[in-house]
Amino acid sequence: MKAGIFITGTDTEVGKTVVAAGLAMVLKDRGFKVGVMKPVATGCYGNEGRLISNDAAFLMEAAQNEYPHLSCPSRFRNPLAPNVAAMLEKREVDIAHILKSYHELQKSYNFIIVEGVGGLMVPLKKDYYVANLVRDMQLPLVVVSRAGLGAINHTLLTVDAAVVRGLELRGIIFNRVSVTNYSLAELTNPKVIHDLSGVPILGSLPEVEGLNIDSFQFGKLKEIFQERIQVDKILGNFPRSVTQK
Ligand SMILES: Nc1ncnc2c1ncn2[C@@H]1O[C@H](COP(=O)(O)OP(=O)(O)OP(=O)(O)O)[C@@H](O)[C@H]1O
Ligand SMILES: [Mg+2]
Repeated sequence: MKAGIFITGTDTEVGKTVVAAGLAMVLKDRGFKVGVMKPVATGCYGNEGRLISNDAAFLMEAAQNEYPHLSCPSRFRNPLAPNVAAMLEKREVDIAHILKSYHELQKSYNFIIVEGVGGLMVPLKKDYYVANLVRDMQLPLVVVSRAGLGAINHTLLTVDAAVVRGLELRGIIFNRVSVTNYSLAELTNPKVIHDLSGVPILGSLPEVEGLNIDSFQFGKLKEIFQERIQVDKILGNFPRSVTQK
């Protein structure tokens, strides 16, 4: 049985990589063969033809994956929306190549965690957005959102964009919540957003001490994710624990 999840966010820098890595480690502990993918990455570094994505490298470290060319098939140097970076670098985001890599990855893993780029309406090429890729990959979504003031608007916009395009929403995760001295917005937002959208709230992640993507430091991300996020709801009907055989 093949399955997976697409991790999107209300914005860039909200914590998609952190959530995707946390989920990868928890599922790996449960015996899943977890594959990770950052289908399009911008802001990559290194030599031409060998560009490296920090996000992809961190996810691969979390899941102990072996296929960098499949996990991050489309890489650009400029830290821009993919279609803009592609234009500057005189290349295209090759969707057929991305989907081929995804299907190839599915042969080696039984659960694929895909991290999006920015949010759902980030353009990958003409008339093709991240939301289109989610559809073509046939994956349900998790939305990562900030917790404080502004989260209602951003989260509802993202939910709306998903619903309009017929995407399945497994739930919302709030990232970097305060553990003491909650702001009033942080305290009230989850219920308000759930009531307005009907989308399950899967939990919230606090600041994880010692976490550093650039230097592959995970801190206690796995333990905190396990404790605070409802992983079973992310899995839906997929068996909640499988062996690696
Ligand atoms: N819960 C957390 N605890 C500690 N640091 C965090 C946490 N969430 C995010 N960060 C840090 O904030 C930054 C942004 O997080 P992250 O890279 O996961 O966002 P993103 O949504 O994947 O961004 P992008 O759109 O660039 O892919 C990173 O440096 C990450 O280490
Ligand atoms: Mg990221």
